[in-house]
Amino acid sequence: MTQSPVEIVICMGSSCFSRGNSKNLGLIQDYLKSNDLQADVKLVGQLCQNLCKEGPNLVVNGQTYHRVDSSTLSSILEGCFAKG
Ligand code: FES
Repeated sequence: MTQSPVEIVICMGSSCFSRGNSKNLGLIQDYLKSNDLQADVKLVGQLCQNLCKEGPNLVVNGQTYHRVDSSTLSSILEGCFAKG
């Protein structure tokens, strides 16, 4: 069965990066690796979107998440990849 890849866009601007996306990026990569999802996900970095105050920012399949910390991130990933 073919599913369209999930697109995860992570803000790599200096504010988001230093406020959590540096760590979030590592967590996403580890999650994808340990769940063998690398082929199903397009992971993209983007530059500052001028939403720094609400960062760290992450966009998953077009939906933007703000103030993403490690626990929010796990729920996002679980929600996204939970087997239905
Ligand atoms: S650094 Fe992410 S919105 Fe500015």
